[in-house]
Amino acid sequence: MLNVAVLGSGRGSNFAAIVKAIQEKRIGDVRIAVVISNNSDSGILEIGQQHGIPAVHLSQKQFADESLFAAGLMEVMRRHGTDFIVLAGYMKRVPTPIIEQYRNRIINIHPALLPKFGGTGMYGMRVHEAVIAASEKTSGATVHFVDEEYDRGGVVLQKSVAVAFDDTPETLASKVLNIEHELLPEALRLFAEGKVHRDVIAVH
Ligand code: GRF
Repeated sequence: MLNVAVLGSGRGSNFAAIVKAIQEKRIGDVRIAVVISNNSDSGILEIGQQHGIPAVHLSQKQFADESLFAAGLMEVMRRHGTDFIVLAGYMKRVPTPIIEQYRNRIINIHPALLPKFGGTGMYGMRVHEAVIAASEKTSGATVHFVDEEYDRGGVVLQKSVAVAFDDTPETLASKVLNIEHELLPEALRLFAEGKVHRDVIAVH
């Protein structure tokens, strides 16, 4: 059984897709132990509450420095028996002690085909704007391990989608989001079934 902590900052549609997949028994042996957000108004906390999942607002701003924040985060995860972390639209840096403690047990979803269109500053609509500006014929979503460098951990799963000649960043974002909603639950299923090699090398 994977006891998963989901971290997010905004809307929470990827988290909702995971909850749905668990309810529909498309992924077995996964329990959402806690949902954590740096943003008290985020949809992701609301969705957690609606489903009776412990929902915790935890932000660096509540702590004097990053190491105290890391300790606070660690304590919440420990209290909820977390053994796996999913970043689903988490817009903040994950403190290094958490990455070290959960190495190869922490994944993120990115709205492009990494290693392209990733790294510092590549988030949200900026990703889709860059894909269109580069006249790419395909884009997609990537689930990857999280390490100390943004968007560089080993790839777990990718799925692509065609970029149409008349796609705007908004239409492309919505196509990619649909793929994300399939990909993230699928990745969790693979982890829960022990089908992912934890020694995937980083993409550079
Ligand atoms: C997604 O596009 C994800 O790829 C990115 O942030 C967005 C989060 O959306 N990391 P949501 O909060 O899951 O709806």
